Amino acid sequence: MKILITESIAEEFVTDLRNQGFEVEEYLGHTQEEIEGHIKGCDALIVRSATKVNEELLNNADCLKVVGRAGTGIDNINVPACTEHGVIALNTPTANNMAAGELAVAHAFAIFRNLCDANNGVHTGDFRRGNWIGVELEGKTAGVIGLGRIGSIVSRKLKGIGMNVVAYDPYVPSEKFEKLGVTRCETLDDLLKVVDLITMHTPKTKETYNMIAKEQLYKCKRGVRIVNAARGGLVNEQDLADALAEGQVAAAAIDVFDVEPSYNKKPGEQEFDNVLIHAPHCYITPHLGASTVEATYNVGSQVADLVARALKGEMVAALNMPAIEGDINAIRPYCNLAEKMGKMYYQTEKSPVKRMEICYAGGIANQNMEIVTMSLLVGILKGMGVDSVSYVNVKECVEEFGIKVSEKYEQDAKKYSNLVTVTFHNDDGKDLVLAGTVFEPDTEVLVSFYGYEMNCILSNTVLAIKNDDVPGVIGRIATTLGRRNINISSLHWGRKDTGKATAYAQAFVAVEQPVTDKIIKEIEACEGVRKVSLIDFT
Ligand code: NAD
Ligand code: MLT
Repeated sequence: MKILITESIAEEFVTDLRNQGFEVEEYLGHTQEEIEGHIKGCDALIVRSATKVNEELLNNADCLKVVGRAGTGIDNINVPACTEHGVIALNTPTANNMAAGELAVAHAFAIFRNLCDANNGVHTGDFRRGNWIGVELEGKTAGVIGLGRIGSIVSRKLKGIGMNVVAYDPYVPSEKFEKLGVTRCETLDDLLKVVDLITMHTPKTKETYNMIAKEQLYKCKRGVRIVNAARGGLVNEQDLADALAEGQVAAAAIDVFDVEPSYNKKPGEQEFDNVLIHAPHCYITPHLGASTVEATYNVGSQVADLVARALKGEMVAALNMPAIEGDINAIRPYCNLAEKMGKMYYQTEKSPVKRMEICYAGGIANQNMEIVTMSLLVGILKGMGVDSVSYVNVKECVEEFGIKVSEKYEQDAKKYSNLVTVTFHNDDGKDLVLAGTVFEPDTEVLVSFYGYEMNCILSNTVLAIKNDDVPGVIGRIATTLGRRNINISSLHWGRKDTGKATAYAQAFVAVEQPVTDKIIKEIEACEGVRKVSLIDFT
């Protein structure tokens, strides 16, 4: 599978991806048009903030499955369009929070103490320090707009240096403000009236675009200072430049532009311009929020890991999938179990499934298991040969096949801590039931196979063999496999109607070598064997 990287991530993670067997092409420094023309044949795309993952790019892609945004902001990713194209879109929202938060605080210090002006002065021979008298941050009021991950870090740090911190974020509950010791502003105007410093920490959306413009700037005290290390365009650039020139805003620090320059061009080649570059007391950094050694490592490691997992069909937290409650590592084994249960059906039965019911019992019944249900659906569709199915398009795919799905939550998991039971209602009017659990930390175990109780660890390849419950059958099966040099890694069986003349047993034989149709026929020919199904979970 091929991964295209259009904006650089740490080289060691590119090597990691190659070592995992992926073909990786680093296609850096190219224009959007060139990238759109180069996306064919790529299974995954890794970008930062410059590449636009838009309709045009997605229309040109013929086998794209995953887009990994190496960073936080997703204003360059059309997530709904990714969903429509069945492409998983993911980002690394925690990897560079600290770096971005620290940059915002550094910018606040710089504009309160005129650091850049003074530095520039000294480098041109001007040591007249009286020109650069600053103001202290302690005792002043900072207004944080957007109290998410980075806004919270910035609030804590500014409080730590003795600022009063107020914040505006209508989507965050009061408890978070209380926990951070931050005063809640009910409206943006409430914040604007009281602040000496505004620091922006919202995403760029229709609602937040230009949320600070001339009107808002002039609602502030004269001499207010502004930091924007979130997204360009949150503060109207022309209005800010005018307010700086006029003195309403004393200083501003900007890490991001509404339209970003190329960050690869050498000084002589750069044609980029912006009104803020010419505004007085406006300090500008070239989108440095995530530029620390630590954040570069975290972003690269997380995006490479998530993209690789997603390509391997594993469940990962993505932007266009339901939010996963609790610990993703605790829920992943249940996803694997459910996907295997889904895959099991068509490898053991022929009659089309009309309806499936999945029941979560025990501790897992106290949380939302929608993502596990989706894994079951991915499994059943893969079992039907729908290779293009992913967590992103699985619901639409299932609808296309007219399969109905329902979920049930129960407290009683019988003798287990947690139990997942799937009932397949098929065209023959049969109800076939599979049940499984996870033994801590991540061993998936099948405990019931169509009514046969067992305790079978689900390895990659298993032979499910229904046989007469009489002596000698298992021996004959094992001998047949042995003759063909097939090693049995585990053997489990369950029994039904024990003692009756027509009692059957169900064996689950995990094997380590490929089993051909010829070998299956040989097993079917063994005396006492009724039905053989080869189940491949890979
Ligand atoms: P986040 O999702 O954790 O927090 C964003 C907050 O903004 C949320 O709490 C949300 O409720 C709030 N918000 C949304 N609309 C709002 C509105 N209209 N008014 C007030 N609040 C609103 O995001 P984050 O990880 O904290 O990132 C914040 C910003 O920083 C994003 O724009 C991100 O792209 C940017 N960022 C920049 C850099 C950089 O290099 N400069 C690095 C990382 C992140
Ligand atoms: C982000 O959103 O993660 C930052 O803006 C950094 C980046 O885009 O690389």
